[in-house]
Amino acid sequence: MSANAYVRRDSDQWIDTPVGGIYTVIKSKCPVTCAEYGDRYCLIGPLVPSASQEVEPVDEPQSIAMRDTLASLRARGVHFLYGKWLVEGSPYVLLLDVGSAGHRMNEWKSDLWNVAGIPSPPDDNETNEAILFGYLVAWFLGEKPVLIAHFHEWLAGVALILLKKRGLEIATIFTTHATLLGRYLCAGDVDFYNNLQFFDVDTEAGRRGIYHRYCIERAAAHCADVFTTVSHITAYEAEWLLKRKPDGVLPNGLNVIKFSALHEFQNLHQESKQKIHEFIRGHFYGHFDFDLENTLYFFTAGRYEYRNKGIDMFIESMARLNARLKHENINVTVVAFIITPAKTHSFTVEALKGQAVMKQLRDSVTEIQNAIGARIFDAAARGHLPESGHVITDQDIVTLKRRIFALRRDALPAVVTHNMADDSKDPILNQIRQVQLFNSSADRVKIIFHPEFLNSNNPVLGMDYEEFVRGCHLGVFPSYYEPWGYTPAECTVMGVPSITTNLSGFGCFMDEMISHPSDYGIYIVDRRLKSIEESCEQLTDHMMEFCTKTRRQRINMRNRTERLSDLLDWKRMGLEYVKARWVAVRRRWPDQVARHERDEADAAVAGEMSDGEDLARGYESDASPAGQQRGEDLASLKYHQKVPRPPSVPGSPKMGSAKIRESFENGDEMPPLFDADEHGDGADHGEILAGLRCVR
Ligand code: UDP
Ligand code: G6P
Ligand code: GLC
Repeated sequence: MSANAYVRRDSDQWIDTPVGGIYTVIKSKCPVTCAEYGDRYCLIGPLVPSASQEVEPVDEPQSIAMRDTLASLRARGVHFLYGKWLVEGSPYVLLLDVGSAGHRMNEWKSDLWNVAGIPSPPDDNETNEAILFGYLVAWFLGEKPVLIAHFHEWLAGVALILLKKRGLEIATIFTTHATLLGRYLCAGDVDFYNNLQFFDVDTEAGRRGIYHRYCIERAAAHCADVFTTVSHITAYEAEWLLKRKPDGVLPNGLNVIKFSALHEFQNLHQESKQKIHEFIRGHFYGHFDFDLENTLYFFTAGRYEYRNKGIDMFIESMARLNARLKHENINVTVVAFIITPAKTHSFTVEALKGQAVMKQLRDSVTEIQNAIGARIFDAAARGHLPESGHVITDQDIVTLKRRIFALRRDALPAVVTHNMADDSKDPILNQIRQVQLFNSSADRVKIIFHPEFLNSNNPVLGMDYEEFVRGCHLGVFPSYYEPWGYTPAECTVMGVPSITTNLSGFGCFMDEMISHPSDYGIYIVDRRLKSIEESCEQLTDHMMEFCTKTRRQRINMRNRTERLSDLLDWKRMGLEYVKARWVAVRRRWPDQVARHERDEADAAVAGEMSDGEDLARGYESDASPAGQQRGEDLASLKYHQKVPRPPSVPGSPKMGSAKIRESFENGDEMPPLFDADEHGDGADHGEILAGLRCVR
């Protein structure tokens, strides 16, 4: 069997989650996976209304096998959408309409009970849909010859269980991005990590009404040829809660090219920050008494998991930061954004009005500015200067006064931009009330809770999430339960420093890869060994330290942060997926693989690949399983160092110290101060790349 035979057909299965990290995993991974498999790669998911806007239908699939399989699904009355997903890489997708198989629900639910002993209560719609989806996928995989199928999360787990029960010849991988029980237990008031070994999993799942879901998740983990998670911390958790030790960790990457803007990213920061300034002027109208030049934008974002995402710690630490900035009389204002979706009844009138009055003011100023320009021009064209009283007219002053009066209001700027569906019970609002961060003039920390994900059509904060992140100074993600955590990773590739924790997969990964993460703008709060009080203090210390940085120091730090991007690139992380697929194939067909490996080894001995260097290069380029395997062994020998400290700490100044001090104090833009470490193109960069090592 040729090496290619192993990668002839592949299917990667996913559940559509338009928000959140799993969607980011699947979408951002497309370019590398398509580069490897081309048209043999197909994603499968449930058909949801929003998905159809992202898919260009393909009526006649090129592959005959796919054509026949789709015809057979159609003949059974299954509705679906097959086509090209309009994302980078343009993979094929098959979106199955689970509703079209709704009449089989009871039959399939009892089958699941009979073949796998998995119960399913009548009123859990999510599970019902997962069952319908699972049976449809199993139909599809039973008809279409597929070699490797990769399943993500329990919601996609039913088909995997069926494949195993039906003995289908497909190599399978199951990746869990969290455990159900982990999420639920952490969201409650449980000392999770110190008690992992002791949880009675069935009882705990039953108590939370998720026993049936837990059964699907656990069965999927056990039925897969290869079981993986996204970080070591979740692997440890899965071992105790799902009772199978994961075979490996598949850390999440990012499509770094998408973000890489070379030296432009500093300019993008400046441009995006201007847009945030615009919003701030409107939001704080009537109380806009702080200097935007000395204002820092901090934010946290993600799904609304109050405790798991550490939003509780975020708010508490902001209150402490506020007190410290006041106490130490530091002339910095911090605007702390919380971006997390909650139930709302749209924007508040005040939020809309703030933007409207600011727009009116801007329009009036532009009109007056144009009129003044015209008057000056006219006078100059006649050969004289305009008389001073004629430059700005009485009418202009009246218009300006009207606009200024329109900005008056007594109420403080709101802490939330929307009308909350459950204002009095919302945990975020309640904690803000408790710590009394009400955006008063004296407060050095202002809070803005935006209970909706961002998009550029938003009338209040009209920016895409990516643009918003670029404009901010610091991402703050003090998570307690976070198997990976894309939000700080995305900050990193955009050159925005962030705070994460040693309970997040990302935080642990960076700590393992970099000798002093904080030098690179990755601050890791200890939430594992410290008390909540100590962690809060540590978080506040980091933020306080950040507030005392000069502009020049912030620019340097952004440069260093951005240089870590390569660590997170799918080109690197994707290799772990390649290995996982190879292990799955080896486990499924051990004899054929052994024979194939013997042939490959013979060929290598015969001189096809002569030395270690060739083999190492082969690791980069040879996607064949044997090539990957060889490379893996070599890679572990070659890449063993951590990313070192940046050589420019401390730097070698090119200017006299008095001048430097003066510029620092002014926060001026200056020519490069340090030999290395400027705009990402110094020796520093090369060393980091050489210091990278493979993840295992
Ligand atoms: N996100 C977004 N819009 C927003 C805020 C966040 O699309 O306004 C995305 C963000 O880009 C990230 C994801 O939400 O990819 C959150 O993923 P993470 O892994 O941090 O957490 P999860 O929600 O999966 O637990
Ligand atoms: C980028 C821009 C600079 C700007 C700076 C502001 O580096 O290229 O022109 O001065 O951002 O940085 P700050 O941290 O104050 O937002
Ligand atoms: C889950 C986890 C998150 C992770 C994401 C992608 O949603 O909560 O931490 O980043 O999956 O793996």
